[in-house]
Amino acid sequence: MSQKNFFSVLKQEINRIDKVKTSKRFEKIIDGFTKESSPKAIIGKEKYQVFNSNDYLGLRHNLLLKKAEHQFSEKFGTGPGAVRFISGSLKIHRDLEKSLAKFHKKDDAMVFSSSFATNLAVLYCLIAGQNKNSLVDNNVIVISDALNHRSIIDGIRVANLPKDQRAIFKHLDPSDMEVILERNKKIYKRALVVTDGVFSMLGEYQKLKQIRNIINRFDKEYENGVLLVVDDAHGVGIAGKTGRGVEEIEEVEADVLIGTFGKAFGADGGYVVANQTIIDYLRESAATYIYSNSIPPGTAGAALKSIELFDKPIGKKLLKNSKENVIYFKKQMKNIGFSFAVDSSHPIQPVLIGDPIKASDLVKKLFKKNIIVTNISFPVVPKGRDEIRVQISAVHTKKDIDQLVKAFEDEKPINSL
Ligand SMILES: Cc1ncc(COP(=O)(O)O)c(C=O)c1O
Repeated sequence: MSQKNFFSVLKQEINRIDKVKTSKRFEKIIDGFTKESSPKAIIGKEKYQVFNSNDYLGLRHNLLLKKAEHQFSEKFGTGPGAVRFISGSLKIHRDLEKSLAKFHKKDDAMVFSSSFATNLAVLYCLIAGQNKNSLVDNNVIVISDALNHRSIIDGIRVANLPKDQRAIFKHLDPSDMEVILERNKKIYKRALVVTDGVFSMLGEYQKLKQIRNIINRFDKEYENGVLLVVDDAHGVGIAGKTGRGVEEIEEVEADVLIGTFGKAFGADGGYVVANQTIIDYLRESAATYIYSNSIPPGTAGAALKSIELFDKPIGKKLLKNSKENVIYFKKQMKNIGFSFAVDSSHPIQPVLIGDPIKASDLVKKLFKKNIIVTNISFPVVPKGRDEIRVQISAVHTKKDIDQLVKAFEDEKPINSL
């Protein structure tokens, strides 16, 4: 017996994953980007149009953000040097948190290394308390949308609740959530509803207004009320008239809002915004905040600069471009006979193909035409709803989009939906 046996198990597991064709380790390595206003990825000697990035406004290549990144790493160094409560709480972190709170009109904010790390700790602490001495008990029913992101699922998982305290409501179906709230109101002291704001596979917005209204009604039915937690990683910085996310689209507020700087804001790191009591509690309890470094000061500087752009003409222009580009792309694709799995105004646009082989073949053909998109198939989407996920950026030019549409037209699979 030796560890060789274990390595053999690992190899078998890798083979199993390869066999079911879900391997993720064969990554495309991007060598760099061109300096164009609509940057192209360089892979080997070729230039590629990236239509599968979460950088919805093109901000990661923005010179103002790069300048801010340099400025703050000059001032504070390239890393935070310690976790926040030791000596890693730099003024740029606090300035960023204050700016975030203002941006989302909440009392306060906390910045984490990623929004995955944010979800893990925030959900854990709100569900179960940080440890056995905590006064926060787990007398709670947790209600989660069926297609929530993996970081939400894991955040619930680490709280280690008994199975009957974890409920799943049908995707985008607030009435199903209502049934669960009704069924559990005499059983648990409180309820916690958690959902993505924007679902990243199809670009759907959660029906937050309906959810909020139902929760408001049920708040009095539970001794310690009902809390709404929304992870709007794909919404913040892009959805809504001024980029405030799904809260702005649906005109209601989450009690706890989680976001990321790693998508529309063009930087990196995660955050939570909420009222002062929740943030003070989380600063005392969230393990991935207390025991793990925050983002580097340069990244925090870039994130702060990014937020500042949103109320300036440049931010408004980027949001306007994004919306116009999405409308333009959808119109051109419909003109050549394609349809979409969902009718959304989000830059995530799922082109319906309906067959997993056709979808993966099409992605390969588009790659040969120097265009990068992503195919999505079962089990991520239902069988027969295979799609090509296109992500449109505000800095894509009309010419870029025309080339993409032309490539779809030239390579259109026979009988695609
Ligand atoms: C809904 C949602 N939450 C969290 C994350 C994780 O984001 P981060 O890269 O900041 O950890 C993602 C990333 O895809 C996401 O889609």
